[in-house]
Amino acid sequence: MCGIVGAVAERDVVPILIEGLRRLEYRGYDSAGVAVIDEEGVLQRLRLPGKVDGLADALKGQELAGYTGIAHTRWATHGRPSGNNAHPHVCRNTVAVVHNGIIENHEALRRSQLARDHLFTSETDTEVIVHQVHDYLHEGCDLLEAVRSTASDLEGAFALGVVTDREPDRLVAARQGSPLVIGVGIGEHFIASDVAALLPVTRRFIFLEEGDIADITRERVVIYDAEGNKVTRPVRDSELSADSVERGEFRHYMLKEIHEQPRAIADTLEGRISAGRLLEASLGHEAGAVLDQVRRITIVACGTSYHAGMVARYWFEGIAGVPCSVEVASEFRYREPIPEDGNLLVLMSQSGETADTLAALREARRTGFADYTLAICNVPESSLVRETDLVLMTRAGPEIGVASTKAFTTQLVSLLLLVIAVGRRHRLAHSGQEESIVAALKQLPGQVERAVELNSQIEVMAGHFAEKRHALFLGRGPHFPVAMEGALKLKEISYIHAEAYPAGELKHGPLALVDSEMPVITVAPNDSLLEKLKSNLQEVRARGGELFVFAGKGIHMDNGDHVLELDAVDAVTSPILYTVPLQLLAYHVAVLKGTDVDQPRNLAKSVTVE
Ligand code: AGP
Repeated sequence: MCGIVGAVAERDVVPILIEGLRRLEYRGYDSAGVAVIDEEGVLQRLRLPGKVDGLADALKGQELAGYTGIAHTRWATHGRPSGNNAHPHVCRNTVAVVHNGIIENHEALRRSQLARDHLFTSETDTEVIVHQVHDYLHEGCDLLEAVRSTASDLEGAFALGVVTDREPDRLVAARQGSPLVIGVGIGEHFIASDVAALLPVTRRFIFLEEGDIADITRERVVIYDAEGNKVTRPVRDSELSADSVERGEFRHYMLKEIHEQPRAIADTLEGRISAGRLLEASLGHEAGAVLDQVRRITIVACGTSYHAGMVARYWFEGIAGVPCSVEVASEFRYREPIPEDGNLLVLMSQSGETADTLAALREARRTGFADYTLAICNVPESSLVRETDLVLMTRAGPEIGVASTKAFTTQLVSLLLLVIAVGRRHRLAHSGQEESIVAALKQLPGQVERAVELNSQIEVMAGHFAEKRHALFLGRGPHFPVAMEGALKLKEISYIHAEAYPAGELKHGPLALVDSEMPVITVAPNDSLLEKLKSNLQEVRARGGELFVFAGKGIHMDNGDHVLELDAVDAVTSPILYTVPLQLLAYHVAVLKGTDVDQPRNLAKSVTVE
């Protein structure tokens, strides 16, 4: 997590670095800092706890400027958020380093550096990097050699940007386990954790690969692979524009992203369905041959992406007739799952950089757990996309709010396309359901649009929650993971403790929690489990619980309940539609509580550490 930006240019790079940090703030926002080599060739640094705006304000009173520089926004791992722990870290005012990742052998390095009289001013694992680079420079290495030698001393994950006053026109970058891109300009070059940081200055990017080290000046970029060989990495044009990551008229990115869902869903479907059927070629020309071999599905993911996988399990088994298991990546990677023939491993990730999900993929490869791998991902240039056999891109566009919204609903749409593709070779071949699923998918953008229009009514509903300390979410069947997603949204942005249960499980324990102080939120679509759900809701009413129900059209609830009706929707696409009001509910509760909606405390958008 943490965001890195760097630049070598023929103009003052500080404004570029600060704008880049603003665009990377979703990766972490505990502290921020910048270091440049100024006109006199002196290394200057400013770093502060808190957000990038604080750093930008502090810079107004300072004459910090330079043509070469690096900057960082932090998500604390080793050491609390503080000025001293903020990056860039500096050694003897001659080298500065920004780092994203975790250095696992930092204690051993620290001990040997203390013995070499280095002073430590932070609690971070990063500080050992800058001392190590310094010592290699001191031994006579140039910056490239010093970074290369340092990188080989490090164990763990890192993306690095390093500058020194000894070579004021040079920036060296390294990637090992954490993402890093190079922005290609005219007479200037940049580095960043993510293309979004550099869109105001370039749309041409080089994506570093694992083990790469890049030697960057204004005129050239030379890349070396893990073995030290000079390599050529392609320059790619990004389709994103600078304003695709702007907030526009919306108060928060999260609200903007909730509103973007009808378009995001339509984009995810575009070119993939036609004449009532899935266009299988749109999944890639190798997809058909792979899918012919698939006999079972394993989905691995984290957080919201895991919830999408849990919904899909109902679809793979119920519609496609193919066994499916779903697991959180941080558990999967340390289990010893038994390989099975015809197993397709589906890795779900908005960012494609989630450390546990990537590790799960690599572990599965190492052990031969799955015959084939497929990524469902929202970031085309991500590590996950580059490392899997097949890719199904969600087309949600950049998601900036830490709370995932449009990524989830487009993941579900993509999963449903995959269910059709797999199911055609199994139960779906005989059920004739494909056309009705495709028809339901086509109706979704309009239905989601109307769900978003419930915004002001949901805002009123949220008024009942702001003072509560706990909330219970209930659902049945594929709406149980939807309830889990609703609970996750509420807790991560409003800090209200929320739990989700399958409604039928209530009487096995959680019912003891229900009283008038416990709001109980449920989704009640008009499906085959509705009557069962209604009985569960009676159990809540009988204990004085206050019910908030998102219900299918025409469903009768009790007078005392707070009820909002949604469009009639096909049972298959229903979990996608019913997610939307839960997102809006969490959003409005958070706004009422005055929390930082887009950057909730302790979290970061992209979790690139274990
Ligand atoms: C969702 O709101 C979260 N912030 C989080 O759970 C997220 O879904 C998780 O970290 C996985 O991220 P990914 O989809 O980028 O892999």
